[in-house]
Amino acid sequence: MKIGIITSGGDCPGMNAFILELSKLCSKNNYDLIGYIGGYKGIEENNFIKLNFDNISGMALGKKGGSLLLTGRYEDLKIGEKLIKFKQRIDEIGIDWLVVLGGDGSLQAAKKLSDLGLKLVGVPATIDNNIIGTEYTMGFDTAINKTLQVINDIEDTATAMPGKVYIIETLGGNCGNIAKAALDEGAADIALIPENPISDDELVKLIKDKFNEGNKYLIMTICEGLNKTMYYSEFLKKALNKKVHISIIGHQQRGGSPTAYDRYVARRFATQTFDLIKKDISGKMVCYISGKFKNCDL
Ligand code: F6P
Repeated sequence: MKIGIITSGGDCPGMNAFILELSKLCSKNNYDLIGYIGGYKGIEENNFIKLNFDNISGMALGKKGGSLLLTGRYEDLKIGEKLIKFKQRIDEIGIDWLVVLGGDGSLQAAKKLSDLGLKLVGVPATIDNNIIGTEYTMGFDTAINKTLQVINDIEDTATAMPGKVYIIETLGGNCGNIAKAALDEGAADIALIPENPISDDELVKLIKDKFNEGNKYLIMTICEGLNKTMYYSEFLKKALNKKVHISIIGHQQRGGSPTAYDRYVARRFATQTFDLIKKDISGKMVCYISGKFKNCDL
């Protein structure tokens, strides 16, 4: 049996750990695992490496961020005729199963390919934690911990020099889950996210209230998708008459060694993926719901 695997869209910590685990399971069962380079484009170009467990087990993949297979965004699959051509290409290459690790766009393309008859399993892998059907996407925990690390460091200087406002911009596209997680964990006082718009006046009042309630400094996370970090930095300086500092985490958020939890999720998702293939159940996405690792329709 020939199983193809791609990592698609924005990479996330845990992708390599997943590849390692799936390769172990495939090798044990004498299935060929073929990794296509750079996401869907790698399939079109038939650019691949063989992922024998023997060859990759010595690479310490479990602890590595990014993706051994490289990733890519491939907009062509949004177009009907190109999608059909792509499916024909897969048939030519002769892949029995395709495993797609990625976020929203990558899994939407996977669903379309599955509807065209390709045997396929989707794996929710994005730091954004924004895939319908699962409460958790691989990489989210590592990304949250990155935000907390930045806030921890800022708090050292914030406690030493009180009275200031700190704005920390997080990744997440138009999805505020990472910024909000910092609030839920108690690390941020305010999280500005696209899902919950707030007026300038409301924001100023909120910040003033926090200081009046006893805050010595204020930490505010902001989702990049709002595109208002620079604006708030200038606006709040004037409105509050306080120093306002910004830190933009950027792609540091997406890199680095996966946390213990993301390594665990990677292994559990890999086991679920392998089970689906072994049982010949296609068109599913592995997922995490109510404390259980299972699968749902793509
Ligand atoms: O993969 C999701 C994500 O990391 C978002 O959080 C972010 O907005 C986007 O990808 C950045 O994408 P790129 O690296 O392609 O600019």
